[in-house]
Amino acid sequence: MNGIVILISGRGSNMQAMVEAGLPVAAVISNRADAAGLGYAAGRGIATAIVPHRDYATREAFDAALAQVIDGFRPELVALAGFMRILTDGFVLRYEGRLLNIHPSLLPAFPGLDTHAKAINAGVKLHGCTVHFVTPQLDHGPIVIQAAVPVLPHDDEASLAARVLMQEHRIYPQAARWFLEEKLVIASGVVRVKGDHPQQLYAP
Ligand code: GAR
Repeated sequence: MNGIVILISGRGSNMQAMVEAGLPVAAVISNRADAAGLGYAAGRGIATAIVPHRDYATREAFDAALAQVIDGFRPELVALAGFMRILTDGFVLRYEGRLLNIHPSLLPAFPGLDTHAKAINAGVKLHGCTVHFVTPQLDHGPIVIQAAVPVLPHDDEASLAARVLMQEHRIYPQAARWFLEEKLVIASGVVRVKGDHPQQLYAP
């Protein structure tokens, strides 16, 4: 077993936060050859791979090819970090219990895309991000850690996204570290951390 395989589709700032936190990153894989994060990973001597989703006729075929590349690195943990593909149930179940995702909202509020606009339009006063285990239902699944930030009266999508992203970079490395240290326990869909570490963060 060999650390974390991180899946990205673009910028890769969450992947970068994990690398900079000193976590063992075995490889970074992207479905897009132009994902900016690939350059960062390669520059740090981390193995990279591209599995272009457009090369596959079906989601099943893409996910099978992706799984084959992932399994070649024999990871303990697979971390979705801005990986903008809907995964098949088969893929999710293959990595059940060792597949994490970061989502830019306080789930179960605002699953899906455009979470910051949805939060502003809903008039919520707190927003944030969630690291959760991935289950077949999109953006649902046992919650490992959440960070909350205020939604301020002058916020637009960009300012709110930036405030949330700073917290993403704190909670995702934390969650991955807990996983690798075998501190996460899931019972009845609820995650607890051995040693009672706080699973929430408030960033006013
Ligand atoms: C992050 O904000 C992440 O939470 C979000 O995409 C961004 C990726 O940024 N993920 C999703 O919306 C998943 N549904 P990054 O590439 O800089 O980590």
